[in-house]
Amino acid sequence: MTLKVAVLTGAGISAESGVPTFRGQGGLWKSFRPEELATPEAFRKDPAIVWEWYLWRRSLIAKAEPNEGHLGLVELESMLGDNFLLITQNVDGLHQKAGSKRLVELHGNIWKVRCLSCGAVYEDRRVQSKELPPRCKECGGLIRPDVVWFGEPLPIEALEKAVSWASSCSIFVSVGTSALVYPAAELPYIAKRSGAKVVEINPEETPVSEIGDVIIREPASKGIRKLLRML
Ligand code: OAD
Repeated sequence: MTLKVAVLTGAGISAESGVPTFRGQGGLWKSFRPEELATPEAFRKDPAIVWEWYLWRRSLIAKAEPNEGHLGLVELESMLGDNFLLITQNVDGLHQKAGSKRLVELHGNIWKVRCLSCGAVYEDRRVQSKELPPRCKECGGLIRPDVVWFGEPLPIEALEKAVSWASSCSIFVSVGTSALVYPAAELPYIAKRSGAKVVEINPEETPVSEIGDVIIREPASKGIRKLLRML
């Protein structure tokens, strides 16, 4: 049987690169309220505040380098080729920086913006801006980070691809995610129901632990190395 592997990553894989997670110790949602910063309503109410927070997060991410976890997944991709898909909830772009090519981003990318007037989507790597909120380079309209906020749908193509891989892979690996945010959190269950072996790599227990066939209670860097030796 050909090995077909889908890997779902969350903020935990970037923790060792110095990018804060959302939940747990030092998590962003301990100091900030998601409803004030990561919803379309919050952006309508105060786009400047939301932009300030995103520029601050960009400045942290800009200093981060991919770690052994990201690099291990690049190795797995080169081992498996077409039989590998990386599905990430992360918006930090560190998988791409590490060299991953076969990936889908479920929650968008913090380094892209979308114009609310003309619809243009383009890369924007600013970590600060004199003009707050910043404006579209094409039409001068209001731009927003091209990420998914609470209450918004996920990009349909990315989600469909993720679901199709969860339904058809032989191994589904969940790495560094609390597995609490849907619909991404549904993916390990879809995989399990479809007959895949489910692997979890996370130093902490999560809902996925209950359905995991293999549980690696390690940080992503060590855990992914271990997984590579097992395959
Ligand atoms: P969370 O912050 O919810 O969870 C991070 C997970 O990583 C936890 O389960 C930690 O135990 C684990 N972890 C911490 N350090 C780790 C390490 N070194 N190696 C491996 N695991 C580690 O992050 P996500 O699950 O990604 O969505 O959060 C999901 C979504 O909720 C995010 O995409 C974001 C957030 O609100 C939106 O903003 C829409």
